[in-house]
Amino acid sequence: MKWLFVLCLLLLCGEALSNFTFTYDMAMRCKEYLCQHGYSYKTYFRTDAVDRKQAKTDSSVVFEMHLAILAASNGHILLSSVPSPSSDPVYEIVIGGGANKFTELRRNLRRNAKASAKTLGVLSPVEFRAFYIRISEDGLIEFGKEGDPLPILTYMDLDPIPVKYFSFAAWNGVEAKFLYDCPLPSSNASGDANEVTPNSVPVDPKLSNSDKLKRTLLMGRDPAIPPSPEVAVSLGVRINSISYDAFESKLTTGVSVVMNWTDESMAWDLNKFNNVTSLNFRQGQIWSPAFYTFNSDSVNMLDAKNPELITMINTGVATYHMQTTINTWCFDYVTTITKWPRDEYHCAIVIEPWQVHEKISLKRLDQTSSAMKAFEQLDEVIQNVWETSSSQYIVSATSWNQMYASDDNSTHQSDRLVIKVGIKRRATAYNIVFYTPLLVLVTFVLMSFWTEPLNLNRVWFYASCTIIICMGLCYIDYLVPCHTVPTILILYTTVLGGVLFALLMQVALMTSLGERFCRTIVMQNVLTAQWFRSLFCLPPLKDCRVYDAINEGYLPQEDEIPTTRNVEQMEKEEVPNSEQREIAEVFDKTMFTIYSVAFAVMLGLHF
Ligand SMILES: *[C@@H]1O[C@H](CO)[C@@H](O)[C@H](O)[C@H]1NC(C)=O
Ligand SMILES: *[C@@H]1O[C@H](CO)[C@@H](O)[C@H](O)[C@H]1NC(C)=O
Ligand SMILES: *[C@@H]1O[C@H](CO)[C@@H](O)[C@H](O)[C@H]1NC(C)=O
Ligand SMILES: *[C@@H]1O[C@H](CO)[C@@H](O)[C@H](O)[C@H]1NC(C)=O
Ligand SMILES: *[C@@H]1O[C@H](CO)[C@@H](O)[C@H](O)[C@H]1NC(C)=O
Repeated sequence: MKWLFVLCLLLLCGEALSNFTFTYDMAMRCKEYLCQHGYSYKTYFRTDAVDRKQAKTDSSVVFEMHLAILAASNGHILLSSVPSPSSDPVYEIVIGGGANKFTELRRNLRRNAKASAKTLGVLSPVEFRAFYIRISEDGLIEFGKEGDPLPILTYMDLDPIPVKYFSFAAWNGVEAKFLYDCPLPSSNASGDANEVTPNSVPVDPKLSNSDKLKRTLLMGRDPAIPPSPEVAVSLGVRINSISYDAFESKLTTGVSVVMNWTDESMAWDLNKFNNVTSLNFRQGQIWSPAFYTFNSDSVNMLDAKNPELITMINTGVATYHMQTTINTWCFDYVTTITKWPRDEYHCAIVIEPWQVHEKISLKRLDQTSSAMKAFEQLDEVIQNVWETSSSQYIVSATSWNQMYASDDNSTHQSDRLVIKVGIKRRATAYNIVFYTPLLVLVTFVLMSFWTEPLNLNRVWFYASCTIIICMGLCYIDYLVPCHTVPTILILYTTVLGGVLFALLMQVALMTSLGERFCRTIVMQNVLTAQWFRSLFCLPPLKDCRVYDAINEGYLPQEDEIPTTRNVEQMEKEEVPNSEQREIAEVFDKTMFTIYSVAFAVMLGLHF
């Protein structure tokens, strides 16, 4: 125990003495192994006993290996007596574990650490670091840096494991390069005929039952060739999310697609293959139908966001599930007037097979079918502003070719899947924001017709209404898709026009021109007409004479004292422009009626 402690002390000093450089020449004489599978030992190498004996520094050494590692951290070396050990005792050496901080020797896979040392920066991602492992007859295991006088780790194993195989691994996400079977560092440069390097050979990996079956099935199979001249594919599409950009007329649909088809040539006998009932294949290992969206904005195959495996059962029925996003154009060319912000759209998504030479007959998979249900957990349906309804149907190749006679019907004999999507905006917030000002504005305008006419306050009111609406309309292009005409825009513009007209009438009647117009004979006649006065509920004329003619039959007498009636008449005459006032009242009432009816009708049409 004491000497171990001393060793450890020396070890710390030993680092400084290191004078070993791993040269290019030495690297050339090693064999290379690249770890790309994270922390799993894939390939096992058998150490050839005969070769090893000669490549030893000492006859008391039973196992010796020289290697070099290029990795940012976590170089793993496994020494075992059998290939692919599961519970058997092994030696596992972790170099630069914990982000290149420590080095450890374990006596079992992933556990049972026997010796550990702090080794900051022992590995390097830019240069090879050379190491050695030495196990002596009495069970002393040494692991150290080449050229260092003392090893990093030493461990005395009283029951040493006979090492026949070794393997390497890296860490998840870290790629590590191992150089093994390197010559002894003391040996001469290349060209030395007497030089002995060990010659380890990789062991054929042990295949599991399903791996064996897979190898048998895939042998000599071309994944580009469909299983039969006409393949029946069941296709089920579930819409998970939908969003529509009304500004760009672009529909983005998140869908999950489930497809299954039968490849009888791949069916296998359960008894022959140890009851393996299902296999998983990667995309491209076997034939699978590929689809694309006919009316997409880009001509691309429907591609899975995260590639999943194709599952095949022993009868040859393959099932594939994927999630993808489809972008399609959706624009109504017939009506350009929309009900924005309560707009609705009807879009179609046409999915057709990607390969023109393949003949695929489609069958729809129901949403309730077991094949679709199996993936229900994976496909989350996302709610948003759009209320969605959809229907799907298959269009056979013949009816498609009848519809699109211009298409070349000699190729593309496959069916198409058409998904009809109806979307409707749920727009409570928009409704409040856009309809409240409109209703308030209209109410105020209608009420203004009952206030005192020919008043400057009214002119100010109409002017400020105009300014408010115009300011709102300035921002229209940020809010409303302008390539269509939303009816709410028509409503606002009509109200604006109405307000402007009312403003014009007010101002016109207040000018001297209006005064003169009111005094024309025609207007006078109309004003005094009984039907006209009762139609507009004007107060009846006390004197049925025209004002201009009042003085005619009434010759003033010097001695006459003004009676109450005369005073009344005189006052009435003194009130200026009473005709204008009445005309204005008539206009107000007319406009009130017209505006109310027009607005009610437009609002009715809008909804
Ligand atoms: C280190 O290497 C240099 C030349 O490369 C040599 O002169 C020196 O003796 C070496 N030192 C040790 C401790 O090996
Ligand atoms: C190294 O090689 C030289 C000549 O190439 C030779 O003289 C020398 O003995 C060799 N040393 C060893 C240790 O093999
Ligand atoms: C796909 O799966 C469904 C349900 O599991 C089945 O009814 C249908 O026949 C299968 N389609 C093909 C082409 O195998
Ligand atoms: C396969 O399953 C059958 C019945 O389930 C059984 O009799 C047979 O022994 C199994 N074969 C293998 C190789 O496990
Ligand atoms: C293709 O179209 C031509 C004429 O448009 C028609 O005569 C022919 O039968 C069609 N072929 C198929 C396979 O539908």
